[in-house]
Amino acid sequence: MKNVAIAGATGAVGAEFLKLLELRKFPINNLKLLASERSVGKKLEFCGEHITVEELTKNSFQGVDLVFFSAGKERSKEFIPHAVDAGAVVIDNSSAFRLHPDVPLVVPEINPQMVFKHKGIIANPNCSTIQMVVALNPLHQAATIKRVVVSTYQSTSGAGSKGMRELLNQTQAWLNDKPLEVSAFPTQIAFNLFPHVDVFLENGYTREEMKMVNETHKIMDAPEIGISATCVRVPVLRAHSEAVWIETEQKLSREDAREILKKAPGIIVKDEPVDGGYPTPWEASETFETFVGRIREDFSHPKGLTFWVVADQLNKGAALNSIQIAEVLTTG
Ligand SMILES: NC(=O)c1ccc[n+]([C@@H]2O[C@H](COP(=O)([O-])OP(=O)(O)OC[C@H]3O[C@@H](n4cnc5c(N)ncnc54)[C@H](OP(=O)(O)O)[C@@H]3O)[C@@H](O)[C@H]2O)c1
Repeated sequence: MKNVAIAGATGAVGAEFLKLLELRKFPINNLKLLASERSVGKKLEFCGEHITVEELTKNSFQGVDLVFFSAGKERSKEFIPHAVDAGAVVIDNSSAFRLHPDVPLVVPEINPQMVFKHKGIIANPNCSTIQMVVALNPLHQAATIKRVVVSTYQSTSGAGSKGMRELLNQTQAWLNDKPLEVSAFPTQIAFNLFPHVDVFLENGYTREEMKMVNETHKIMDAPEIGISATCVRVPVLRAHSEAVWIETEQKLSREDAREILKKAPGIIVKDEPVDGGYPTPWEASETFETFVGRIREDFSHPKGLTFWVVADQLNKGAALNSIQIAEVLTTG
């Protein structure tokens, strides 16, 4: 049994931590809930108890063994070193430490052994990256991927609870003939989409797109794979979708790819060329697996394969993956 804290307990990812720690019966002695001073005194339910939210400070971690951290990158940078100094192991959902050479970046279906190399911090990868690598890795093991081109269709909850609220508020405003307010996103999201997730970098890609490149290289230990991503925000509340194209060294037939993916951990193949015979974000919402469909050989390239990947990014892309990491850590 462990003394556990959730930093960012009142957020979109924090809410999933509370649900999933209970659902998976994670062994907890005492649970501490931390957020900003705005949330101090709020009560959140866990296993039938109402726990009072406390302010996240550098002194929050005395006596805490394990911290699930989802309070944003700046808070991760500021407070995680204090948690580590206090003797806690931290599983961080932000990008603050993901590419640090001493910090394992873990997707338990792919590199669980890295968990044991931690020096106090284990990083949970970017949500779009996790669901992509869950599908890429078994194909890479079978046929060696040389190149990946991916386009994402990312839900509004990827930007936290304010992102979900903005889609609902704009939709309601439009239905009531009111002006649409834009605050969480760079432009209108209701009845719209835009190819802009996170900030633009000097190379013309966005930071989210470069996370998909750099984090995939680290998790799969395959820096030689060429990767290009276009990340798009779409008016969906929950679960990210991705159209993925790969080139492999050995040719993969559609049937081979289907069989490999069916046997791979954490994946459900839904791949029938009929109405509804493919995964959608609506049906993937609040589920735990990574769904793959639309698997087909690329007729424009002899060793090309293309497919569609959908997963609930608040679960597999964040809280669930973090808890799976903690389960590896605690059960060995
Ligand atoms: N959303 C996703 O799909 C997703 C996926 C993977 C990773 N992540 C990462 O997970 C983290 C949380 O994301 P989210 O979507 O849950 O965001 P969110 O819904 O905006 O929640 C943010 C949380 O951080 C807390 N917080 C904000 N400012 C704080 C401060 N100054 N001091 C202490 N706590 C503070 C908030 O507390 P208050 O309620 O008191 O403001 C809230 O609990 C981010 O690093 C994000 O990049 C998110």
